[in-house]
Amino acid sequence: MAENNVLLKISGVNKTIGKRQILHDISFEAYAGEVFGFLGPNGAGKTTTIKIIVGLLSLDDGEIYVDGADIRKNFEAAMANIGGIVENPEMYKYMTGMENLRQYARMRNGVTQERIDEVVSLVKLSNRINDKVSKYSLGMRQRLGVAQAILHHPKVLILDEPTNGLDPAGIKELRDILKELAHKERICVLVSSHLMSEMELMCDRVGIIANGKMLGVHTMEELISASSGDKKEYIICVDDIPKALAVIDIEESRKRVADGRIAVDLPAENAQEQICMINKAIVGAGIKLYTVSEAENKKLEDVFIQLTEDTQGGGQIG
Ligand SMILES: Nc1ncnc2c1ncn2[C@@H]1O[C@H](COP(=O)(O)OP(=O)(O)OP(=O)(O)O)[C@@H](O)[C@H]1O
Ligand SMILES: [Mg+2]
Repeated sequence: MAENNVLLKISGVNKTIGKRQILHDISFEAYAGEVFGFLGPNGAGKTTTIKIIVGLLSLDDGEIYVDGADIRKNFEAAMANIGGIVENPEMYKYMTGMENLRQYARMRNGVTQERIDEVVSLVKLSNRINDKVSKYSLGMRQRLGVAQAILHHPKVLILDEPTNGLDPAGIKELRDILKELAHKERICVLVSSHLMSEMELMCDRVGIIANGKMLGVHTMEELISASSGDKKEYIICVDDIPKALAVIDIEESRKRVADGRIAVDLPAENAQEQICMINKAIVGAGIKLYTVSEAENKKLEDVFIQLTEDTQGGGQIG
């Protein structure tokens, strides 16, 4: 990978509200062209951190740089490169999507009609942009919020739990848009969530926070390989299970029957070769082989729970 272009740098941020220290030494970096997931259970400190980054809350100490601009020493330059939705995006329901964007553009310098049309197309609202917002689904409103947040060409887009309340189709639409903004427009997109399953499909890297502390930052690949460990599970469907079990030449502890199918655990390093041998043995024995598939990775959520329950906060995976 080419050298990462750090657009957001958080370094040693602490925050106390009242008598409680909410954030402890939060540090991480997010890059141009990636979707960075900010993952943590309820009350972890995600919203507090995000409010500090977008300038809605002050920080006690530590540093935040947005594209090199220090948020404390150079607030305006830092904010010029931040677009965000923290609470519900403010919108006038009796106006159309387009009217809302024009209204918002008036508050920002240099947003042209051409730019408005461009963001409308980026968030895939072109065919509904002249409808009143009161007629929009929650997903469409969320997308209009994203359009509004990127109108001024920020390099960093920050969304606090953007998929809350959306149905699966709405989540997918938003996810695809955010990935496109990151991967094609090279924006640094930071999204928070309390669901690993959601982060898995959307993010390139994930920073995990619990009890106001960062537990670590990992690429999605690292998390996936930590969850599957050194083995791969395959599901085999055949017409004669006992006969197939007998010809599958691996240790007994690595094969079992579940839901009328055979499951085998194979060492990750040569799983493909082994599954070919198994295939051959089954077919060679005259057994009908219907399907062979790699089992879905269901344990990623467990890795997250294990990491966040680790009270030492070491954040070790693997
Ligand atoms: N204004 C406030 N006054 C006192 N405590 C606060 C305030 N805002 C947040 N907190 C506390 O700070 C901690 C972190 O809250 P925060 O909202 O940042 O968590 P979160 O990760 O966004 O959680 P959620 O997933 O529920 O949105 C919580 O214990 C919360 O009660
Ligand atoms: Mg929150």
